[in-house]
Amino acid sequence: MLLLQLSILLWFGAFRSDFSEALSDLEPIWTESTLLKPKVMITILARNSQHSLPFYLGCLERMDYPKDRIAIWAAADHSIDNTTAMLQEWVSRVEGLYHSVRFRTTEHEKSSYADELGPKHWPDSRFSHVMQLRQAALQSARAQWADYILFADSDNLLTNPKVLSHLIAENRTLVAPMLKSRTLYSNFWCGMTAQGYYKRTDSYIPIRNWKRVGCHAVPMIHSTMLLDLRRHASRALAFYPLHQLYPWMLDDILAFAFSARQAGVQMFVSNSEHYGYLPVPLESKQTLEDEEESFTHTLTEAMIDFTLEPSRYLQTASRNKDRMGFDEIYIINLRRRMDRRERMLRTLDVLGIEVTVTDAVDGKYLNSSQLQVLGIEMLPSYEDPYSGRVLTKGEIGCFLSHYNIWKQVVERRQKQVLVLEDDVRFEANFKRRLNTIMDDVRRLRLMWDLIYIGRKRLQVANPERWVQGIKNLVHPDYSYWTLGYTLSLQGAKKLLAAEPLGNMLPVDEFLPVMFNKHPKEEYLVYFKQRDLLAFSVEPLLLFPTHYTGEAGYSSDTETSTIWDNESINTDWDRQGTHKKQNRGDAGPVPTLNRGSRDEL
Ligand SMILES: *[C@@H]1O[C@H](CO)[C@@H](O)[C@H](O)[C@H]1NC(C)=O
Ligand SMILES: *[C@@H]1O[C@H](CO)[C@@H](O)[C@H](O)[C@H]1NC(C)=O
Ligand SMILES: *[C@@H]1O[C@H](CO)[C@@H](O)[C@H](O)[C@H]1NC(C)=O
Ligand SMILES: *[C@@H]1O[C@H](CO)[C@@H](O)[C@H](O)[C@H]1NC(C)=O
Repeated sequence: MLLLQLSILLWFGAFRSDFSEALSDLEPIWTESTLLKPKVMITILARNSQHSLPFYLGCLERMDYPKDRIAIWAAADHSIDNTTAMLQEWVSRVEGLYHSVRFRTTEHEKSSYADELGPKHWPDSRFSHVMQLRQAALQSARAQWADYILFADSDNLLTNPKVLSHLIAENRTLVAPMLKSRTLYSNFWCGMTAQGYYKRTDSYIPIRNWKRVGCHAVPMIHSTMLLDLRRHASRALAFYPLHQLYPWMLDDILAFAFSARQAGVQMFVSNSEHYGYLPVPLESKQTLEDEEESFTHTLTEAMIDFTLEPSRYLQTASRNKDRMGFDEIYIINLRRRMDRRERMLRTLDVLGIEVTVTDAVDGKYLNSSQLQVLGIEMLPSYEDPYSGRVLTKGEIGCFLSHYNIWKQVVERRQKQVLVLEDDVRFEANFKRRLNTIMDDVRRLRLMWDLIYIGRKRLQVANPERWVQGIKNLVHPDYSYWTLGYTLSLQGAKKLLAAEPLGNMLPVDEFLPVMFNKHPKEEYLVYFKQRDLLAFSVEPLLLFPTHYTGEAGYSSDTETSTIWDNESINTDWDRQGTHKKQNRGDAGPVPTLNRGSRDEL
């Protein structure tokens, strides 16, 4: 009985499926298609932005959002540089890509406001003009029935291509993507005084530093923000004219924040993702050159984490580059770290510095017979002070890479060179500051062999002596790292004459030995002449791109050692006197890397 029921069920099942198939043959049932993306208008207001426009527009172009769902509203005003022509060119070349493109030039206008003291000064006339431009954009977006309007200042770098989709997904009337700068400055406030001034509150830093992540209600957002025009309350928002109750000084961001407040619209800032960068605002007396330097620094910082390229729709004359008075600027780069090579080349291009890339010696592929041929011997008493382990392959490769450059300097009789590793970040105004120091060095005819540009000071408690007559130069004490240094011909000769391959140390331990500041007597005895004339810039102008423990950190000098791996046949220890043999036999050596010295 049960069996019969079951077979009837099965039969019915089979019949039904045949039946529905037959039906769908006659009349196919399509699944619903997905929705088109919301319509967004992007507002570009540019003034004296020729330095930032190529990269700013490059970011907009690379947004991961359908261009036919984006309208562009661009305006250039009061520029003394090439901004208007550039924006005009871009607009005409992208016209077919976007839903619509509008460009508002004001070329007939003067290049500055009558009551303006300089390009960074904001008289009332300028605030009022900018507010009117923003209002015109807003009205245009409403007239086009755009769903959203994105305001993005022309020096803000929206490096995250998903920024639009993410902001839309926040589902807020007004939301800004949190942007970072080289200081704590960002495009939001957490507090505001009754007078409409900025007020630092306890929640600011945790948000700014991504300790608190999410979409946060705040009293002020500016520079880059997305407004949802489908919201009822958005209809009351305005940049201009000022709200009749407006109590504060004239200022475009305050005027809009007040308008939002009156309309009952909460502002939000989202730091759910890393969205991009913005430069720290300048003082009103600063110049366009200051602004360009500040933007350049923002750009080089952004390049550490993102592949940033200029707009492909702008012809940008390549920047003038020079060698800053050095015979050569060497970059040491491992062939297998093309990512770093490319980043350095892009960064140096932006900085206007002409360099030569040299292939680093890849320690990974060094074997014992090569070491033997090169006559490499480890310094007998060397051990890493923190991990207790011996030299790694990476450290040998790193030493040889620097050593090869010293040799080239001598062979080519180069008077002075700059040596840079490929994982450095440049301080703001790097080029100008280093040029000033080197000019002073030449002017004072200072005798020097090596000048550290980036290093890690180890004797932090003891202040270093300033060099008399030269600003920003000190006599360095014991230091680590070889991120960047200048080297003179005489300096290179001294380093080679010490024959360091036969008593190898990590290169950053060797240098302090050579200027006689290494605290370990047992290392010093192997090098008779320790008279390298070493100096260091202060404050330093180079830092590592990533510190140990920070996401993205990987060092090529600080990984596997040859000597603690029994499966690799090495005759390094053929004299049987070296300590590392004992370590190798004692089991796996902790792979604490030299970066871990940082933590001390
Ligand atoms: C200004 O920009 C336009 C458009 O990009 C370009 O053709 C022109 O060469 C630029 N002029 C200067 C002086 O850079
Ligand atoms: C967005 O917000 C509106 C009202 O604030 C709400 O009705 C809607 O469900 C929200 N949408 C999503 C996807 O959360
Ligand atoms: C070491 O490397 C060189 C060059 O790659 C190679 O010719 C040589 O055979 C290698 N020696 C050993 C012992 O692996
Ligand atoms: C030792 O070297 C061999 C050959 O290169 C490698 O396969 C192995 O992973 C290494 N072992 C350790 C512990 O590094």
